[in-house]
Amino acid sequence: MTSMFETTTNLKKLRSKDDNLLAGIDDLDSNLKEKYNSVLSIDTALNRQIVSFQANKTIPFYRWYKYKEGFSVSLLNHYFSKFGIKPGQIVLDPFAGSGASLFAASDLGIDSIGIELLPTGQELIKARNLLQNNFSDDEFSRLVSWKENKPWIDTENSDDFIVLKITNGAYTEESNVLIKKYLSCMKNENINVQKILLFTLCCILESISFTRKDGQYLRWDQRSGRCWGSIPFDKGEIKHFNDAITEKLGEIIADSKGITDSLFDFSEPTAKRGKINLIEGSCLNELQKIPDDTIDLIITSPPYCNRYDYTRTYALELAMLGVDEKKLLSLRQEMLSCTVENREKKLLEINPSWAIPLAAVESQELLQKILFFLNYKKQEKTLNNNGIPRMVKGYFYEMACVIFEFSRVLKHDARVAMVNDNVRYAGASISVDLILSDIAARFGFEVESISVLPIAKGNSSQQMGEHGRDALRKCVYTWRKK
Ligand SMILES: C[S@@+](CC[C@H](N)C(=O)[O-])C[C@H]1O[C@@H](n2cnc3c(N)ncnc32)[C@H](O)[C@@H]1O
Repeated sequence: MTSMFETTTNLKKLRSKDDNLLAGIDDLDSNLKEKYNSVLSIDTALNRQIVSFQANKTIPFYRWYKYKEGFSVSLLNHYFSKFGIKPGQIVLDPFAGSGASLFAASDLGIDSIGIELLPTGQELIKARNLLQNNFSDDEFSRLVSWKENKPWIDTENSDDFIVLKITNGAYTEESNVLIKKYLSCMKNENINVQKILLFTLCCILESISFTRKDGQYLRWDQRSGRCWGSIPFDKGEIKHFNDAITEKLGEIIADSKGITDSLFDFSEPTAKRGKINLIEGSCLNELQKIPDDTIDLIITSPPYCNRYDYTRTYALELAMLGVDEKKLLSLRQEMLSCTVENREKKLLEINPSWAIPLAAVESQELLQKILFFLNYKKQEKTLNNNGIPRMVKGYFYEMACVIFEFSRVLKHDARVAMVNDNVRYAGASISVDLILSDIAARFGFEVESISVLPIAKGNSSQQMGEHGRDALRKCVYTWRKK
């Protein structure tokens, strides 16, 4: 039997081994900070509003769908102008999301390529592109008629939609009936109008549901009967289907026809719009198909290494777009590793030349020390999830391959601008900004700036208590191809 004394001694030993390993991580982190000290600075022009979607909430087109991870238009315009990006050049966003970078470029007459894996983002980009460039007056008048006459209400027929385990019970019985009638009634329209009606439906699903998007999962309102956790959650107003859909159709018609209230900070593009080339798939497969030295700017924000699961938070929309359980699981695995469920990807099978970035990441000392520590914590059974070491490793190894491809597709002197957050696991702060920049430097990039948002990201109260109050940096990094 172990005595209390022995238990306490063992605990102390464990603690001191933890402390030693953490101190080793801290030392390497300080060295790297020192190495990039001259380019690491707080940029007061950047704030959370500018970097995130918040600033878009009232802007025509961007307000249609709450893509919380989206870039603000002002951030994009800031970097286009800073780097002198002009019509005739090509911008690439390999994690295109809602397509904010593609549309901001297009409004300036600049062509762009976007890669996006999830159907949610893909549909958003395709719908907006269709409305802005290929939607006829007759088709607009069909949307107006749907808004005014609500034809689904009197439809007898109804069409089923996919219900996933994680979306089961998301709507009231009445909303379920109305959605099914709407889906059936849509079929009387031509294909373009159908696409926009389906997109409009996706835009309102959260507002008529018992759920709220909440980072790692969907949060359930107590009225759903699916609520768990000790504190009951009330999301506030749950909109009626008919009100939500007509209001959204109104916004979409007004913004697309340019009849939106002039109070909005928006002006019609004066130049010819730039073309948007959307590639549907994983950038791990698609980037390698882009020819060498062809891109003038990469502006992007990959998923953060923070366990945020896009396939869960966007599950309502994915199900409505026809994603079933099997497809959902495969999308989750194809995503850049950022959840504890991601299995290791066979990167060398995707592209044998990635032996180079994999060797670079194997020799990144700080990252390897962090991975060693996380694996040790896993063996000690003191990690709150055993998938964390695999996720962190997958994140950096995959990002190294992505950055390697960046260095190949960019023209000489062209830049990458990337928004990303640092993270912390088991008390180890992971300087994602410094590690990724250091990897980029090994592929011939000059790290020009690591601009830190003035107020660093807060930490969970649990982590604050256990591991002190160091704030985590949120940054925009710019790298130039030498
Ligand atoms: C932080 S969001 C980007 C948001 C975007 N900047 C915007 O303005 O909407 C990251 C995006 O990467 C996508 N993604 C994740 N893994 C991917 C992969 N392997 N290939 C392409 N896109 C991926 C996610 O679906 C998500 O839309």
